[in-house]
Amino acid sequence: MTNADTYRVRMTGISKRYGTMQSLDNVSLTLKPGEVLGLVGDNGAGKSTLSKVLSGAVIPDLGTIEIDGKPVSFTSPADARAAHVEMVYQDLSLCDTVDVAGNLFLGREPKWKLAGIPILDKKTMHERARHMLEGLGIVIPDTHLKVENLSGGQRQSIAIGRAASFNPSVLIMDEPTAALAVAEVEAVLELIRTVSARGVSVILITHRLQDLFLVCDRIQVMYEGQNVAERCIAETNIEEVVNLIVGRKFSARSAGQSIERGASI
Ligand SMILES: Nc1ncnc2c1ncn2[C@@H]1O[C@H](COP(=O)(O)OP(=O)(O)OP(=O)(O)O)[C@@H](O)[C@H]1O
Ligand SMILES: [Mg+2]
Repeated sequence: MTNADTYRVRMTGISKRYGTMQSLDNVSLTLKPGEVLGLVGDNGAGKSTLSKVLSGAVIPDLGTIEIDGKPVSFTSPADARAAHVEMVYQDLSLCDTVDVAGNLFLGREPKWKLAGIPILDKKTMHERARHMLEGLGIVIPDTHLKVENLSGGQRQSIAIGRAASFNPSVLIMDEPTAALAVAEVEAVLELIRTVSARGVSVILITHRLQDLFLVCDRIQVMYEGQNVAERCIAETNIEEVVNLIVGRKFSARSAGQSIERGASI
């Protein structure tokens, strides 16, 4: 087995331009099986765009992606799903007026046939939904509740539960703990631990830097569409991460202090 084969994901030289905005400029990312990678950077650094390239929602102008050592070319999220890559988007993409079970099974609801006509098998759907949530340690009082009536943390859990139910080997979460209460954040972090312990590779995008130190193995820092640095979590601290995220701005102000760029990537 060559070194490259040990990576679950290997993105190389990814570039994406929107008009005059170079959102991604020759970006790389690697991810090992069961690894939790924290992807951090200031607003507009390119984190969501890079993740969407991996989830098939954005097609890059340049660059290559390998999954388990095999080159892939995603032109839609369905392509990425077929390669076991799932993403929980920043806006969650849930249907508010549909209940919990309906959201979990959206587009693949269990059906039975009456005189050849497919009928929604609600009983099976709710049973499976309860089972699915229990398996992930997600506490939702009733799978018949409409998603619009759930708390932010519960909604986040449903979105993660839905993504996890596609049996992903890569799960990308874009700011899953933004605007959550303390206990809800804990529940999402515990979910990340649960799925990564099962061998799922996770990319966690977050501005809550303290969370990185609770669940991540490694972090990758981006700045204005470029790789800035990469660190094992055990070998860094919150001050250094803050400096890497904002470094260039402050270094510009403090007249020419050099910052690390492109290190170990
Ligand atoms: N569809 C698009 N059309 C035009 N510009 C875009 C598009 N998507 C992203 N961009 C631009 O690309 C840059 C990177 O955006 P991206 O959403 O990836 O940043 P981010 O790191 O996720 O930021 P945040 O932390 O605020 O979510 C931004 O300047 C953004 O305006
Ligand atoms: Mg974003």
